[in-house]
Amino acid sequence: MNDNVHEFDAHDFFRSDRFVNDPYPYFDYLREQSPVVREPHQGIVMVTGYAEALEVYNDPVRFSSCMSTTGPFAGCPIPLEGHESEDISGLIETYRDKTPFHDQLPTMDPPAHSAHRSLLMSLITPRRLKENEAFMWRLADQQIDSFISKGECELMGAFAQPFAVLVVSDLLGVPAEDRIKFRRNLIRQEQEGPGVGGVSGQVDHSPLTFLYDTFSAYIEDRRRNPAGDILTGLAKATFPDGSVPEPIDVARIAANMFAAGQETTVRLLSYAFQFIAERPDIQLRLREDRTLIPNFVEECLRTEGPVKGDFRLAKQPTRVGGVDIAAGTFLFIANGAANRDARKFENPAEFQLGRSNARLHLAFGAGRHACPGAPLARAETVVSLNRMFDRTSNIRISEKVHGPAGARRYSYLPTFILRGLTHINLEFDPVAAG
Ligand code: HEM
Repeated sequence: MNDNVHEFDAHDFFRSDRFVNDPYPYFDYLREQSPVVREPHQGIVMVTGYAEALEVYNDPVRFSSCMSTTGPFAGCPIPLEGHESEDISGLIETYRDKTPFHDQLPTMDPPAHSAHRSLLMSLITPRRLKENEAFMWRLADQQIDSFISKGECELMGAFAQPFAVLVVSDLLGVPAEDRIKFRRNLIRQEQEGPGVGGVSGQVDHSPLTFLYDTFSAYIEDRRRNPAGDILTGLAKATFPDGSVPEPIDVARIAANMFAAGQETTVRLLSYAFQFIAERPDIQLRLREDRTLIPNFVEECLRTEGPVKGDFRLAKQPTRVGGVDIAAGTFLFIANGAANRDARKFENPAEFQLGRSNARLHLAFGAGRHACPGAPLARAETVVSLNRMFDRTSNIRISEKVHGPAGARRYSYLPTFILRGLTHINLEFDPVAAG
């Protein structure tokens, strides 16, 4: 234990912007005290150890996901006080339909979670993923066409955001004529603010309304008029017990894919490109040996994963990492901290291109809720890097926007959930098509 009062203790990780630019020293500071430790401002138990994070992720009997994305910060309708030494599973169920985002997959617990998750998995078949990847190669080229001749771009607006929206649109079979509408609606919403997890704790439901309405209409239409397309496949998908979901159930799953897959993938892409632009030596190695790219992406996810952490709610009095936890306690599983636990990753703060266990990171969570979009996010990043390498030489940071090497200016999303740049301006030399 560290008996000294540290400067970090004065700052509330969830409410202040003290750790926005660099949360890692704070995570290390917590882990040095204990891989499981209660932070003093909100009373939230911070899980920063790798093994302890896995233990919590893998135990839905002791830990509920009911407020996994918001924690207590969008309001907690469950009257938790006075039940610290009881099993509160029943209490959670009584108030579940009042909790934020209760109708969405990330907040569900078994058995409802298992049924809805299997509906989602039926949409992401290996065949669909393969077809989707073929689409990504074509799409990456089209996106690059739109800015290549300028020799510079703001990567998120010019590439990553439209790319991420259109990849999920293709995966779910959104008709080509509707894709502009998706791009407009979803990107506009995203730029309006960070939504959940912002230090303001605001919740933004509007992109979901667009997605719910549009997908419900698709499903209803394809049930009436089967067309042999991907949406017809979605319309026919059933729960594992054979029952037919309501159109809104399918629409929610589709909306989850957009909501969860957008911001996250955009941040991964931006970090991967920031890194190769800052490190010409690594850029050159990747350009020369493209087989190194997948592990490079894993190491990006390990060192700078886009999701700083997820919440769980203790359903019963329990113990993790030697720390007693009362029922009704919120835990924050800090993926970004677990990924830098020296008990799992040697020299954890160091970026090692060839790190052999890089892929064991927890950037995609673990257990029943582990990110089903992981293969997409990985493929999107591998494809984007490859295509940008094909079409350019010498990708570098724009000094005009970010300042000279050694005195860079980067700004990060002011949220406690997401880790990532707000924008990234690059310059490059276009390569003539061969
Ligand atoms: C680098 C990109 C991504 C990261 C870092 C990421 C991270 C995560 C994490 C940590 C979770 C677990 C949350 C929890 O346990 O509470 C999760 C769940 C989820 N992700 Fe991702 N994600 C990414 C991309 C995507 C993509 C591309 C999609 C879909 C197209 C997607 C869809 C989902 C969905 C639907 C869930 C909820 C799963 C469930 O609750 O069973 N994600 N993601």
